[in-house]
Amino acid sequence: MKNYLFIFAIFIGYAYCQTDTDAKNLLTNLFTTQSYNKLVRPTRNQSEPTAIWIEFFLYGINGFDEIQQKLTTTAYLEIYWYDELLAWTPSSYGNLSDIFLPQEDIWRPDIALENGFKDLESLGSKFIHAEVEHDGLVLWKPFHVFNSRCKLDSTYFPFEKQSCDIDFVAWAFDESEVYLAVGTDGVNTEDATDSNGQWELVSSSIVSFSDEGVSQIRATLVIKRKPLFFIINIILPIVLLSILNIFTFQIPADIGERMGYTVTVWLSFAVFLTIISASLPQSSDTIPVLSIYIIIQLSIGTFSVLLSAWLSRIVGRADDIPVYLLLKKVALMKRRLQCACSNGKVDNIVKHCKIDQNGDEHFNAKNETDSTKREKSDESNIDWKEGVAALDFTCFWIFIIVLIISTLAMLMTSALQN
Ligand SMILES: *[C@@H]1O[C@H](CO)[C@@H](O)[C@H](O)[C@H]1NC(C)=O
Ligand SMILES: *[C@@H]1O[C@H](CO)[C@@H](O)[C@H](O)[C@H]1NC(C)=O
Repeated sequence: MKNYLFIFAIFIGYAYCQTDTDAKNLLTNLFTTQSYNKLVRPTRNQSEPTAIWIEFFLYGINGFDEIQQKLTTTAYLEIYWYDELLAWTPSSYGNLSDIFLPQEDIWRPDIALENGFKDLESLGSKFIHAEVEHDGLVLWKPFHVFNSRCKLDSTYFPFEKQSCDIDFVAWAFDESEVYLAVGTDGVNTEDATDSNGQWELVSSSIVSFSDEGVSQIRATLVIKRKPLFFIINIILPIVLLSILNIFTFQIPADIGERMGYTVTVWLSFAVFLTIISASLPQSSDTIPVLSIYIIIQLSIGTFSVLLSAWLSRIVGRADDIPVYLLLKKVALMKRRLQCACSNGKVDNIVKHCKIDQNGDEHFNAKNETDSTKREKSDESNIDWKEGVAALDFTCFWIFIIVLIISTLAMLMTSALQN
């Protein structure tokens, strides 16, 4: 309470010194006696350029439109310059040191957003006042929602980082009349609330430069997508569906439900893709790594449906597998692997190892004659069922490895660019 009284006392004190008459006199002097004309560029010597300082105060990132490549930000600019025609001596006006004038009543540079989406439009609005200090310093703070163009590279969706430029230009003036400079604060993002659910601000910078004799200010915002939503709702379900899909190869081919299972998984994949397609970046300029990943997983899914259909047809055949068929080679390899894994131990599970024992304690892979002899003796007793089981086993492990490698590759490429 004390503080309020204190401030109130100060306010009274000032008001006492600066009467309304002082302000009226000042305005009469500036606008009538000195006939201030807002069409005149405010330098006494018109061959000297007017320097305009600009600072960019970001309030928040409203959104990013991937199809239109449009960044929407809410911000205000702090623009200040010296209006030499609006200066006065405070002591002549009861120590009145600053006044506020509607922005329409004073000279202003025609600063506009250059890389905007709509027509060029003037900054600020009629009701905004600019502060004028007695030395002629004009402080103008136009508030705006800026729609600027920003090309988004969604290759690394949803881990992409994007740098967006917001360019300001004094449209009509060239450098010798008006030049833009960066004010002391540069880009200020202290007020920027992290209110956007999808984008966060990583860094910001501002520079002034000259483009064909016209001076410009470029504020650069580096924004990053928050990936959590997409990891939980897209990447994770796809990995889980892919695992389900690979387990098709764990179901024996002669069980009728296998086809049902694999088609169901494929259908859930298709339905899921319909759901997430709205969340994926809808631009054809770049193919996101994630889309390639989804295509790989969908291809494996389709392949396993086709393979299951074929295997369920051949699994019931009674005759032996022809020698030239790949199926037979795979089956033999699996046998050898199983024998090697069981370390030559003769047991019921690896019955066929027994056939080749013939006095040897265990298999010796280095022994050429032995292994050819074994192959010959094996060839006669591989049936289709064993061949199909061996192929299932091989596909299961190949696709598990493909899944792990492709998932890691997808995450690594995205992580590396950050
Ligand atoms: C105006 O400024 C120009 C360039 O700075 C200078 O050459 C000229 O003498 C100045 N004129 C007056 C009247 O001060
Ligand atoms: C203006 O300010 C000066 C110094 O602060 C003070 O001496 C003077 O009395 C003030 N004038 C008025 C009219 O308040």
